[in-house]
Amino acid sequence: MHRNVSLKTYNTFGLDVVAAFLASIQDISDVERLRKTTIWQAEKKIILGGGSNCLFLDDYYEGLVLVMNNKGITTTEISNRKVKVSVAAGEDWTDFVQQMVAMGLGGLENLSLIPGKVGASPMQNIGAYGVELKDVFHRLQALDLETGQLVDFEPSECEFGYRTSIFKTTLKDRFLILSVDFILDRKAELNLDYGKIREEIARMGIRQPTYRDVSHAVSTIRRNKLPDPLQLGNAGSFFKNPVVHQLVFDDLEKEFPDIVGYPGQNGTVKLAAGWLIEKAGWKGFRKGDAGIHQMQALVIVNYGLATGREIFSLAMEVQQSVKEMFGIQLEPEVNFIG
Ligand code: FAD
Ligand code: EPU
Repeated sequence: MHRNVSLKTYNTFGLDVVAAFLASIQDISDVERLRKTTIWQAEKKIILGGGSNCLFLDDYYEGLVLVMNNKGITTTEISNRKVKVSVAAGEDWTDFVQQMVAMGLGGLENLSLIPGKVGASPMQNIGAYGVELKDVFHRLQALDLETGQLVDFEPSECEFGYRTSIFKTTLKDRFLILSVDFILDRKAELNLDYGKIREEIARMGIRQPTYRDVSHAVSTIRRNKLPDPLQLGNAGSFFKNPVVHQLVFDDLEKEFPDIVGYPGQNGTVKLAAGWLIEKAGWKGFRKGDAGIHQMQALVIVNYGLATGREIFSLAMEVQQSVKEMFGIQLEPEVNFIG
């Protein structure tokens, strides 16, 4: 356990927050040992993977940060097509996806280049380019931080939804996810219909794409759209895309004919929050070192020395102005840590 540690390299906003205590979790035995310490019993705790979906609000985190660093990937053949893959929470998500793609296992390729670690992937049921974690999720193992029990969660118990799960709602901060199991498929169908994947594959001159080609295409599209946190601090989309009833969308469309929305389930429409924020005039806005990205209005950025509070208050101003202009309440996707 370390004391007074800078978290600058542990969060992709690049905030220079100091944590009172920090412990690296390499193995479950590390948690079992920590649980017996007075610091564990006295301090509040936060689990961190890659810190790519967190906003620390204060310059000092008065508690214990548990950084997931356990490693290991094991594969089990289930049939000549399907493979079960068990992955430790501390594995890097992008490296894991690359390994699966290289092994010819399909299902994860559209989720290429999402920052962070495997253990966080079920938290908000990560998604991109037409695929969500729940599409390949099999089971996870977690430690109940209250009782010390190991618990398995089946898909139906995780309450996965768009950018949510039971771990982000009812069971928030209660379970430490230790490993995640996936079912991958050697003959999975390719998902090429979302966004510009087909266009990018055609541009690459490929007629019969493989998982690797889809992964490359998705990675290229992402690199062109989203800022690299190593160059410019950010946590991806700051808000979720709001889901509204078709009738609400129809009314908005009368007033704003160019509004962007995608048909969802049960007569709903998913609005592009980036469009709402841009239309409200925020794209490229900068106040001090906190700003709204010039290319993607849904991404809030830290130009260097912004504080968590400055980023938070800019986000709240954006939320308020979108509410006033469209009557739509944006819900943050990023996790606030106070
Ligand atoms: P962290 O930020 O460390 O943690 C996120 C939350 O999970 C926190 O509440 C934390 O306490 C909790 N947590 C972390 N690990 C564990 C664990 N083992 N057990 C229990 N709780 C845990 N997300 C998408 O869904 N789709 C995208 O396309 C996408 N693109 C992004 C692009 C960029 C440039 C960036 C910076 C972020 C993007 N994100 C995207 C958000 C982010 O990458 C994901 O949410 C990712 O899963 C977060 O992983 P992490 O390890 O960094 O989690
Ligand atoms: N748009 C604008 N102005 C902007 C940004 C977007 O008008 O500044 C409009 C455009 O019409 C664009 C549409 O919004 O076509 C959608 O934008 P984009 O394709 O960039 O996707 P997004 O809806 O902003 C979502 C996810 C991303 C995910 C991509 C691809 C959410 C909250 N965000 O972004 O996830 O990578 O789709 O699937 O669902 C994340 O969660 O952190 C994240 C980056």
